[in-house]
Amino acid sequence: MKKDIKNLINLPEHVAIIMDGNGRWAKRRGLPRVFGHREGAKAAEKAITFASDIGIKYLTLFAFSTENWGRPEEEVNFILKLLVDYIDNKLDNLLEKNIKLRFIGRKEELPENILKTVKKGEENTENCTGLNLFIALNYSGRAEIIDAVNKILATGREKITEEDFRNYLYYPGVPDPDLLIRTSGELRISNFLLWQLAYTELYFTEVLWPDFNEEEFLKALYDYQSRERRFGRIKI
Ligand code: FPP
Repeated sequence: MKKDIKNLINLPEHVAIIMDGNGRWAKRRGLPRVFGHREGAKAAEKAITFASDIGIKYLTLFAFSTENWGRPEEEVNFILKLLVDYIDNKLDNLLEKNIKLRFIGRKEELPENILKTVKKGEENTENCTGLNLFIALNYSGRAEIIDAVNKILATGREKITEEDFRNYLYYPGVPDPDLLIRTSGELRISNFLLWQLAYTELYFTEVLWPDFNEEEFLKALYDYQSRERRFGRIKI
């Protein structure tokens, strides 16, 4: 694969991904939805390795939203187990690749055993300096903003600037995503990183998440390279 990576100039510093289409991938094969999630976890692993190998600095994956608790219990448990298994089984790989793992979302609401594994993953990779991998778990963009507002209110402040506001988000020092990828042909943001996506380039593909591989990732990166980012200004 590496030999195919050409012209990777203008690499986005931060890529965010809405991994969508696992259920449909399974349905098309006449399989239960959880099979799609299992393949989806493999695709996530591939994307993480690829991002790390090509030198992307930040990768944020939307794994589980606050709304996803409304799915059947068996499906919820399956997705959470995939995440726990990923940390338990792939910690050595993360360390070997110098990947720093962190989670965003309302962590305090997670079941005890999940939280324990999440913390294990974060603590063990704390000193890594390569790819910064963020997994959004029990995440909602609106909830992140509300949590920030409540933190501000607790300080007794009455006025705040945009730059100050950032300091109250889950991970203040992280640059906003340059590129958002969403798979499966859905054209929505779905409550993901609402504050941070203000000027992000959006890339939508029909490919279902379990089929998203290095080649599809590259297509998104090449498409990004062709964009002209103006941040509301005009070209001089
Ligand atoms: C969306 O597809 C996918 C999810 C809600 C779960 C995503 C989780 C994973 C891929 C596992 C992550 C694992 C690691 C290691 C990061 P959907 O079920 O909404 O698909 P559908 O729209 O076709 O029904």
